[in-house]
Amino acid sequence: MKSRRYYIETYGCQMNEYDSELVAGILEEKNYQSVEDFHNADAIFVNTCAIREGAEQRVMSRLGQYKKRKEDAPNTIIGVLGCMAQNLKDKILTEKPFVDFVLGPDAYRNLSNMLDQYHKDEETLINTRLSRHEVYEGMFPSRKEGINAWIAITRGCDKFCTFCIVPYTRGRERSRSVESIVDEVKRVVDEGFVEITLLGQNVNSYQYENSGFPELLDAVSEVEGVRRIRYTSPHPQDIDDDLLEVMRDNPKICNHIHLPLQSGSTEVLERMNRTYTREEYLRLVDRIYEYLPDCGISTDIIVGFPGETEEQFMETVSMMRQVRFDNAFMFKYSARPYTKAIEFEDTVPDEVKSDRLQHIIDLQNEITLEKNRELIGTTAQVLVEKDSKKSDKQWMGRTDENRIVVFDKNGELPRDVVPLRIYDAQGVTLFGEHLN
Ligand code: 5AD
Ligand code: SF4
Repeated sequence: MKSRRYYIETYGCQMNEYDSELVAGILEEKNYQSVEDFHNADAIFVNTCAIREGAEQRVMSRLGQYKKRKEDAPNTIIGVLGCMAQNLKDKILTEKPFVDFVLGPDAYRNLSNMLDQYHKDEETLINTRLSRHEVYEGMFPSRKEGINAWIAITRGCDKFCTFCIVPYTRGRERSRSVESIVDEVKRVVDEGFVEITLLGQNVNSYQYENSGFPELLDAVSEVEGVRRIRYTSPHPQDIDDDLLEVMRDNPKICNHIHLPLQSGSTEVLERMNRTYTREEYLRLVDRIYEYLPDCGISTDIIVGFPGETEEQFMETVSMMRQVRFDNAFMFKYSARPYTKAIEFEDTVPDEVKSDRLQHIIDLQNEITLEKNRELIGTTAQVLVEKDSKKSDKQWMGRTDENRIVVFDKNGELPRDVVPLRIYDAQGVTLFGEHLN
């Protein structure tokens, strides 16, 4: 049979990257081959994100381009996958009638059968049912070559932060068995990956039978050939001493925690249903540094949550100065359907949100640069990833703490770990030189 060609475009988080790899695995089993340009594809899939309105708008306009492609090549299949499929299927079906498939994040196992059925009767097919159990055990994602492999260990979220749509688009939280995770780790090591990033909306609520997240980390680290283990994203509520102890004692687990703060105001945190206060978060940061003195800590922050006053915003600012995060992802609050916060009075005008966002972006840039400058003169173990953006005579790699380092090539190859002395810092990038 002549092989067909597919193209997948992915928006949103790392979990979506992983899911696209799962879908690629299904398509390749059906004799589809990947292409880099959607104009050459027989099937175009877009894996979508619903976390903020902007992400949805980007996908909607991209679908316009796919529509044109379908006008030129009417046999092209167009599929919408992921969180927006779950959330906006009716809108997609009425406004984008050229879409042939709509599949939610728990429905990919059906894709193979749906393709067969589609080839018979060419009717639009939809499956957005959420599952309490689907963890895609026994399925094999098709990954592009590289250093780092994503592995989903939990799916869904039960925390219900009041701003977040994820519990509605991805459903209830569930964990995969330790055995199937370890098997997948072995496979990716055989494929040449040396760094594993364990993924989950709340990765550290992992619980399968008697194994919690710390036990899983140990089990994964025992797989021969694994050099570094990362994980994202944890919820502050579930970081306990057992986890910090394993991170301290197990050298393969990277010295980095992405610890979403969201707001520095206890009142706002309460309205967000984050389950911790400003003081509790600060105590947690202290505890992390007690166990892991040079841990890299990054965060997520939302400004302009409904009702956020200037004073409450300034508490976020003071918290950022106090903690001095290594890095932060910062967002303007975006009202999402189904969520509790959509019922709160949205008293923060958009210009104020934009000003607040700019204020903390500038502050974080300053802090990142200051912290990076403090590292000048220290040494770091850098795992080589790829050519630097600016020159093929230089490598780009990462430290254990997830800091980016650029340095001159000197015979090493991607996957090597190189000791370097840091001699400069610009923005988020460190510059290193060989020790001798
Ligand atoms: N508006 C803005 N940011 C959001 N996030 C989640 N939901 C929203 C929303 N409605 C942010 C949070 C989360 C990150 C993945 O996205 O900071 O940690
Ligand atoms: Fe959303 Fe909160 Fe769940 Fe994270 S923990 S996915 S922010 S509801």
